[in-house]
Amino acid sequence: MRTRVGIIGAGPAGLLLSQLLRQAGIDNVVLEDRTRAHVEHRQRAGVLEQNTVDVLRACGAGERMDRRGLRHDGIELRFHGEGHRIDFPSRTGGRSVMVYAQTEVVKDLIALSERDGGTILFEAEAKAVEGADTDSPLIRYVHEGEVKTLECDFVAACDGFHGIGRRTIPPGVLRTWEREYPFAWLGILADVPPSCDELVYAHHERGFALHSMRSPQVSRLYLQVAPDENLDAWPDERIWAELDTRLARGGWTLEHGPITERAVTPMRSFVAEPLRHGRLFLAGDAAHIVPPTGAKGLNLAAADVTLLAAAIIRWHDKSDETLLDAYSQTALRRVWRAEHFSYFMTTLLHRDPHQDAYGYRLQLAHLDYVASSDAAAASLAENYVGLPVV
Ligand code: FAD
Ligand code: DHB
Repeated sequence: MRTRVGIIGAGPAGLLLSQLLRQAGIDNVVLEDRTRAHVEHRQRAGVLEQNTVDVLRACGAGERMDRRGLRHDGIELRFHGEGHRIDFPSRTGGRSVMVYAQTEVVKDLIALSERDGGTILFEAEAKAVEGADTDSPLIRYVHEGEVKTLECDFVAACDGFHGIGRRTIPPGVLRTWEREYPFAWLGILADVPPSCDELVYAHHERGFALHSMRSPQVSRLYLQVAPDENLDAWPDERIWAELDTRLARGGWTLEHGPITERAVTPMRSFVAEPLRHGRLFLAGDAAHIVPPTGAKGLNLAAADVTLLAAAIIRWHDKSDETLLDAYSQTALRRVWRAEHFSYFMTTLLHRDPHQDAYGYRLQLAHLDYVASSDAAAASLAENYVGLPVV
């Protein structure tokens, strides 16, 4: 099989890239290892930056998001048992975020591809990328029990942290930076209306907690736990009791309900450089990971492919490679900003098991600063809603 752009991975990065290219008349094929049901139901992120909302609307995938998504104009930072609201639009020239699950973004993009005659091969595992340093790279993949070849002009590795794309780049070319955190998140979905109108990020001496949501009927909540936490040690009553303690605020109660999903996610920061090797491009989690506290993972993936699509379209329409040449540097500048913001939010709000009493007081001093200084709140707000994709 031959196509212009071979895309590995049907996560948000691969699916959005495919749609942006198809909209510009550029033929592409998406290869996805897992089943459609699996990628459509994998519980992950839930907050879309203004940029992500804008690009989903522009590519025709915004209709259901605009009906079902929840626009949020701020978040609450909760510490010392008190809440402090950070308003976004007043500090960011009117920008805000949308609470809309990654599962729904993925469903919308797959439906759009299906409607427009796009090609996504599910249960098609990419095994190797060959000829990345030539003008005609190819992907070897296994589909329906056979080894097949996808020849293309470009390969986009949107295959997540454990994918094969990044590993294709020779070790002498690729540099990586990494940090693992000494904690993880226990995330639950519960059939109970959210107990708040906006997300609550809580700092507590027992550890971080986050109250998010998926819809007016479904709550999403997270607890900081140990990286090797055993889920069996967390029956429903213990989860709710711990959430009650960490989210406590005078005059406020957390509604409990049936827990329908639970999982533990480790936390790490990771960046690979460069994002290009010849005609192979890395985008999304294949290139970088952030701890989830700033809600940046999915949004960075969307920003990467917005830049990559523009670069490929310029090459296709004008035979101009300038944007392709600039892709790695342009994307990485934004990536490192988000890496820092995610690190900042993570270290501000979590209880590090190695932290001393002084470190704990520094966290509270910084939280107090963000809650009381307009400059500090503005910095958090502009990073949270997302800096423009340039
Ligand atoms: P992915 O969504 O990982 O998609 C990559 C795709 O490539 C997958 O579908 C995979 O099956 C496919 N693939 C891999 N290898 C191959 C191969 N060889 N051949 C074919 N296909 C392949 N972010 C937040 O902001 N908030 C959160 O709460 C949050 N929770 C998360 C929980 C988990 C368990 C994980 C893993 C991530 C979470 N994230 C969260 C991060 C966010 O979901 C990711 O940043 C986002 O999914 C990145 O999108 P992507 O398309 O780059 O990668
Ligand atoms: C969600 C995840 C995040 O990482 C975050 O910072 C806010 C919300 C969520 O899954 O809803």
